[in-house]
Amino acid sequence: MTPTYWQSADEDALMQDEHAFIWQAMLDTIDVDLSGRRVLDAGCNRGGFLRLLATRSGIATGYGYDPAAGAITDARRLAGDLPLVFEPASTVPAGWERFDVAFSHEVLYLLHDLAAHADAIYGALAPGGVYYAVIGVHADSPGIPDWHAENAERLKLPKLYSLDEVIQAVTGVGFEAAAARLKIRFVPVSGHAPSFPAGLDYFYEHKVMLRFTRPRR
Ligand SMILES: C[S@@+](CC[C@H](N)C(=O)[O-])C[C@H]1O[C@@H](n2cnc3c(N)ncnc32)[C@H](O)[C@@H]1O
Repeated sequence: MTPTYWQSADEDALMQDEHAFIWQAMLDTIDVDLSGRRVLDAGCNRGGFLRLLATRSGIATGYGYDPAAGAITDARRLAGDLPLVFEPASTVPAGWERFDVAFSHEVLYLLHDLAAHADAIYGALAPGGVYYAVIGVHADSPGIPDWHAENAERLKLPKLYSLDEVIQAVTGVGFEAAAARLKIRFVPVSGHAPSFPAGLDYFYEHKVMLRFTRPRR
């Protein structure tokens, strides 16, 4: 058994159910109050994280984009009357701007041009806005280089980035960077759950939250 990485759109529904404990850890780790805020989720898939923010964190509005068109169709349906907007796209859609907070969870390792992504998020944030990006699939994470070598061609992945490379690319467009361990509590034991103890180490040690702040000036 190994931790879950994205494999295909077919597995999206399963993945969304299984990410709930990580999304909770993300909310327990961030250092802003989301209430009344305008929030962006890059690589939102079926929108589960934004629904959590709308129902539990009291955000004003949430916007999510993802290139998986079927997942966006599901996200729109599942959002019901919540103040959420979803768009199929592989970068921030035109006109989406002035966000207070942006998130991505396990998206950076899929991107072939990190600087372009960082630039798009920078432009979408208001001055002083914060981008929280969570990544466990990186070169310094035990077991991931082997997983990447086996799957890179099939999943059309870019080279495996180190955390330093990610931080360098994102700060290169003007963000200020900080990093935290996720405040993970219980990790569910299921088909996708970790072997013990390596899997716990993945969630407790190697899956990190990077905080990128757009300066106010
Ligand atoms: C591991 S999944 C994570 C999904 C979601 N963030 C979550 O927490 O469940 C990675 C997601 O990134 C999306 N993705 C792939 N390329 C992307 C891009 N260029 N921009 C944004 N998202 C992308 C995939 O379609 C997929 O939904």
